[in-house]
Amino acid sequence: MKVLVVGNGAREHAITWKLAQSPKIKELFTAPGNAGTARIAQNLDIAANDIKSLGKAAQQKNIDLVVVGPEVPLAEGIVDHLESIGIPAFGASKLAAEIESSKVFSKALMQKYNIPCAKSVSFADYAQAKEYVQKQKLPIVIKADGLAAGKGVVVALKMEEALAALTEFMQDKKLGAAANQVLVEEFLPGREMSYFAFSDGINVLPMVSACDYKRVNDGDKGPNTGGMGSYSPPVFDSPALQKLAMDTIMVPTIKAMAQEGRQYRSVLYGGLMMNKGKASVVEFNARFGDPETQVILPRLKTDLLDIIIATVKGKLSQIKIEVSEEACVGVVMASGGYPGNYKTGLPISGLLDIDSDVMVFHAGTKIGAAPWEVLTNGGRVLTVVAMGKTIAEAREKAYNNVSRIHFDGCHYRKDIALFKS
Ligand code: AMP
Ligand code: GLY
Repeated sequence: MKVLVVGNGAREHAITWKLAQSPKIKELFTAPGNAGTARIAQNLDIAANDIKSLGKAAQQKNIDLVVVGPEVPLAEGIVDHLESIGIPAFGASKLAAEIESSKVFSKALMQKYNIPCAKSVSFADYAQAKEYVQKQKLPIVIKADGLAAGKGVVVALKMEEALAALTEFMQDKKLGAAANQVLVEEFLPGREMSYFAFSDGINVLPMVSACDYKRVNDGDKGPNTGGMGSYSPPVFDSPALQKLAMDTIMVPTIKAMAQEGRQYRSVLYGGLMMNKGKASVVEFNARFGDPETQVILPRLKTDLLDIIIATVKGKLSQIKIEVSEEACVGVVMASGGYPGNYKTGLPISGLLDIDSDVMVFHAGTKIGAAPWEVLTNGGRVLTVVAMGKTIAEAREKAYNNVSRIHFDGCHYRKDIALFKS
């Protein structure tokens, strides 16, 4: 098969890497890809959001299947477009992707179908939102309705922070139309996990879960990022917890989407808060997570292409997902200054010095003047991933390899998957 992966992050490099292991793959393309995907696939110079051009390229190259990584093209209807021109695509349709692209929609869905989630009220009017927030207990969570690349959520510990978020979102329009509506949500305490399940619209098949680290600095300090690291399985994971997540959240959500005429055929990512034997939804994403994908795909033993084809064709009942018992840890190496301003075009050294069983998934990288030269080209640059019999073993191996890679200003968290015993 000829397969095209859309996106340019470490998530898409991991997806491309996993697909490349399938004996059914004849040719692999990535659009736009990065220096990492260029080694295992052919990069096409088309932006992930340029839906029409991606469709044309897929037709010209006789692509059999398109796999979509990021949320923006999904929300803009890339899967609907590709299907309309006869190209099978793995990803949520525009209507299904609203479970991520509109928090107002996903909250209304959860409320209607009794899927456990934080209580929340939505506002389009700043004065009303302000009046409501001032009467609430702290901490309180302020969320923009639409896609905001991780910048649309403020967990406010103080009233000033909550009010400042409302001002930024609703008056200063810092996030544009994404904050035309704002949700004011109850704070959920507990332990958070990213839960993944595949669905063909009817069948729901669980994948392993993972935890990610969103803040830039050790100890969960500093501003939010796209994700600074991840590990799988969560230390607090258990078969009972997995069953709870499936029975109370993932299966009812897939059913609810079908009932709403928004059949969900893709991977569904539940950001779940676990507390006192109950799982509640923090958010849904209509796609694989980044950086979680970098640590769950190495654990997957089943051919990812088989799962994807079965998802697209409505045949997931024929698939059995097998995963490795080993743990997996991924550490993100970021550009100096990230998540604020940073330089790009800096040479990366040490990429050839890593252990053969360690994976370096590229995100913001590009090939330099010489074909072997790799330069930084974004905020999050690499995810260095290692497996091990225990989380501690995987963690040690990942960090050992991180220390061999260098670029000017590079920074990373030192506490990914670190647990005090
Ligand atoms: P989101 O973009 O919705 O994933 O939110 C970003 C992060 O904010 C989540 O991963 C949680 O850690 C936190 N968060 C969001 N909503 C809540 C909530 N209701 N209670 C506690 N934490 C939350
Ligand atoms: N790991 C967070 C996300 O993918 O949205």
